[in-house]
Amino acid sequence: MKKIALFASGSGSNAEKIADYFADQEGVSVSLVLTNNPKAGVIDRARRGFGTGRVHAPVVVFDRPTFYQTNQITELLQNQAVDLIVLAGFMWLVPGSLVQAFPNRIVNIHPALLPKFGGKGMYGHFVHEAVVAAGEPESGITIHFVNEHYDEGAVIYQASCPVAPTDTPDEVARKVQVLEHAHYPRVVAEVLASL
Ligand code: GAR
Repeated sequence: MKKIALFASGSGSNAEKIADYFADQEGVSVSLVLTNNPKAGVIDRARRGFGTGRVHAPVVVFDRPTFYQTNQITELLQNQAVDLIVLAGFMWLVPGSLVQAFPNRIVNIHPALLPKFGGKGMYGHFVHEAVVAAGEPESGITIHFVNEHYDEGAVIYQASCPVAPTDTPDEVARKVQVLEHAHYPRVVAEVLASL
C-alpha cells in the first residue's frame, strides 16, 4: 500500500480531486490531510470523506511554531510511513528538514508556467493578477518536486491555456483550475508508480 499525505491551506478542490481519484484504486491510500489553516475548506471536505464520501483520512491542523521549530510534522509523516507528500494549494514554505526527510517525495502544483510568476508572494489569485497585468498570451500549471525554495524544484509536468487580452484574473483562474483538476491526480499517480 502506498500512502499519500495531502497538504492544503484553502478550499481544497485539488486535494478533493486527488482523494476522489484514488478512492477506487487498490494499492494507494490518502492517509493524512494536513493544514496550517483551521478555517480551510479542505477540513470540511476531508470530514465528508471528500467527493466520494469514502476517503476518510485524519486531519491534522498545525501552527507556525510546530511546523518551523519542531520536527513533529516530519516525525508524524515518517511514523505513518507516508510515501508521497502532495501539496495542493499549500501556501507555506516547506522547511528544509522536511524536504531532506522526503527527498523527491514532495510534489507541488503552481498555478502558472514556472519559472514565470513563481516565488515568494506568488500564490493563488496573486499569480493570475500578475499574469493579466503582464499581458501574457498564455498561462497554465506547473507540477514540480519541492525543494527548500519557493517554486524552484524540478518540473514534472506543465500544461498551458490561452489568456485573452480581455480575460480577468478570475477568468484565468477558472481556466487554470480546469487544467489542475484534469492533470494533478494523474501526475501524482505517475510519480507514485515511479517510487
Ligand atoms: C491552486 O490554484 C494551486 O495551484 C494554488 O492554490 C490553489 C488552491 O486551490 N497553489 C499555489 O498558489 C501554491 N503556490 P484549491 O484549494 O481549490 O485546491
